[in-house]
Amino acid sequence: MSRPATWRGMILAGLVLSMVGCDDRYPENLEYYFSAHTRRPDPQTKQPNPDELTETQLKPEAQRVLARLLKPVFGTPAHPKVDVEQAGLQFPEDRELASLDPQTLAEGSRLYRRFCIHCHGIVGDGRGSTGRWLNPPPRDFRTIWFKFRSTYDPSGALALTSREDLKRTIRSGIPGASMPSFALLSEYELEAIVSYVIHLNMRGRLEHALGKILVERAGLSEGEAEGKDALPDLLRQIVESWTTRRKLVKKVPPAPRWPMIEAAATPSESAELIRRARDLFVNKGACVQCHGIDGRGDPREIPENAQRRDFWGNVLPPRDLTQGVFRGGSRPQDLFWRIRLGIAGTDMPATEEKQLSDEEVWLLVNYVLDMSRTRPPISLAE
Ligand code: HEC
Ligand code: HEC
Repeated sequence: MSRPATWRGMILAGLVLSMVGCDDRYPENLEYYFSAHTRRPDPQTKQPNPDELTETQLKPEAQRVLARLLKPVFGTPAHPKVDVEQAGLQFPEDRELASLDPQTLAEGSRLYRRFCIHCHGIVGDGRGSTGRWLNPPPRDFRTIWFKFRSTYDPSGALALTSREDLKRTIRSGIPGASMPSFALLSEYELEAIVSYVIHLNMRGRLEHALGKILVERAGLSEGEAEGKDALPDLLRQIVESWTTRRKLVKKVPPAPRWPMIEAAATPSESAELIRRARDLFVNKGACVQCHGIDGRGDPREIPENAQRRDFWGNVLPPRDLTQGVFRGGSRPQDLFWRIRLGIAGTDMPATEEKQLSDEEVWLLVNYVLDMSRTRPPISLAE
């Protein structure tokens, strides 16, 4: 290596180190701060921002009041906690709420600072230094909107994702988006990061709810008193939304002879399965509406696809299924969950059991995987 190149390398390494810091602990005096809540899809209108809370609405004085209310429960980045006892509550017995102790959270926070913060931001708002340049942008962890879930809420409301889902996403990354894989972290490290993401979710959602109270009241001291009163109940609802009771995991039923089409006993059985799968894709499942007859979702064929957006307002065409890149994972069971439960925050719909049986969903999984392997030229006339 020539001399100038060596120097350039050293200066660059120095710069990177000074930005990242050699030490992966937070400064002791760093506090969580207010960051606007603008990425909040509305389940009814499927449009962004119906319920935003911005710096214009919440003046610096009010932001300080908010921080005062939240700190006893959630601590600071260096010493995070979810101290529900502060609010006179207890954690319900629930495995989804395990590992939210201060020691695990501190470890999660340390790893988060190292691996996630530059995209997802200190408070989990998705506005880290790299985050603003990415499309799709990093998730804002402070809402109930997570895309890749195995969960559903029996009441029909949107269910929060599960610990296991979060762990899988962090371990595998999101292929086709800029979220990297963290497969080299240990099981304990992954669990700790998941706990910290849950901490940021709870803190962010409580911040939004209390902030709304503050902006609606005329006087700040009145708002603060009312916020204090409302806090235990709001926190209880948020904690409860994370429990298993509120979100059932959609069990993946065993696939009938997998892979179905290849495992068919005779060529005519296999032809019959392909015919049924294609029929589901075209007719009963109505997948062609968005993904097109050949799975590519080409906007020249389906002009609406050029305008499709996710509920946060980012351009999001349906996936080209022939590419074989699946953001929520490409194991058959991942695709089963995506087709059964949909992708929250996007046009990709859930299919109810009344509409498609489990076996029919398996046939579609098989068909989608097959499409990405063989890219078959399909036409309706066949
Ligand atoms: C280089 C940027 C980047 C880094 C680093 C990064 N992410 Fe992400 N992350 C993203 C993007 C972009 C998305 C959204 C992808 C999408 O919407 O399809 C995302 C989405 C997520 C989601 C949402 C999954 C869902 O179901 O909606 C979680 C959880 C997540 N990231 C956790 C983490 C954690 C934890 C770390 C650190 C260990 C991390 N990310 C590091 C960019 C990043
Ligand atoms: C109303 C439009 C629409 C319909 C109908 C639709 N999809 Fe999608 N689909 C989408 C969009 C949009 C995405 C991209 C979501 C994303 O990137 O987050 C998607 C993504 C997917 C993915 C990729 C999952 C992943 O992890 O990346 C699969 C597989 C899929 N759809 C299969 C189907 C099947 C099978 C059907 C029929 C039962 C169907 N879709 C019906 C819009 C639709």
